[in-house]
Amino acid sequence: MHVLGICGSPRKGATEYVLRKALETLESYGFETEFFTVRGKKLNFCIHCDRCLKSGECTFRDDMEDLREPMKNADGIIMATPVYNGGCSAQLKAVMDRTRAFLATEPDFFSGKIGLGISVGGDRTGGQEYALLQIITFYILNGMIPVSGGFFGANLGATFWSKDTVEGVKEDEEGFRSLRKSIKRFRESLLRYRQTP
Ligand SMILES: Cc1cc2nc3c(=O)[nH]c(=O)nc-3n(C[C@H](O)[C@H](O)[C@H](O)COP(=O)(O)O)c2cc1C
Repeated sequence: MHVLGICGSPRKGATEYVLRKALETLESYGFETEFFTVRGKKLNFCIHCDRCLKSGECTFRDDMEDLREPMKNADGIIMATPVYNGGCSAQLKAVMDRTRAFLATEPDFFSGKIGLGISVGGDRTGGQEYALLQIITFYILNGMIPVSGGFFGANLGATFWSKDTVEGVKEDEEGFRSLRKSIKRFRESLLRYRQTP
């Protein structure tokens, strides 16, 4: 089974660090994983020209094209975002909006895939849960199965407090606890819903 991790941070920072940890854990359980980052990529905003709806083609030829096959092949998707102004990064939101072109030709493009979110804020309570809700909303409206780590600290997924640095996030034991709980449910859901008999 294949898991795609999408990092919504434009730098090699705390979000990339924890997402890579999540993917390493899944690999240790035998899942194939793939990592995509917005860092250094050309990702235009959707301009609502509706060309994709009319012709099936996006107006832009940029790095979003690299995501079509990985997204299509994924049984599970983990979107990880830094918290910017209390929500997800504009870069991750651009990725979400640009999937309109994938959905234009394949409305069930994401249907049935398992989705998990990770958010990383510089402050302890800086909007991590709202950022996760943005990710989960994307999953729900595209027919995916969103999962979290459940009660006692991972209600909407994994949340981290980085104090703005990779070293800071490494110290966030509570964040890693929320990640372990979230990965456990994500893994169980993949096996329950995506395993072919
Ligand atoms: C434009 C901007 C807005 C931010 N807004 C918030 C915020 O609202 N809440 C918060 O906790 N941290 C905020 N931060 C801090 C980042 O979430 C934090 O540094 C995080 O670790 C960045 O992830 P990265 O290290 O993967 O780049 C903001 C940072 C930037 C650049």
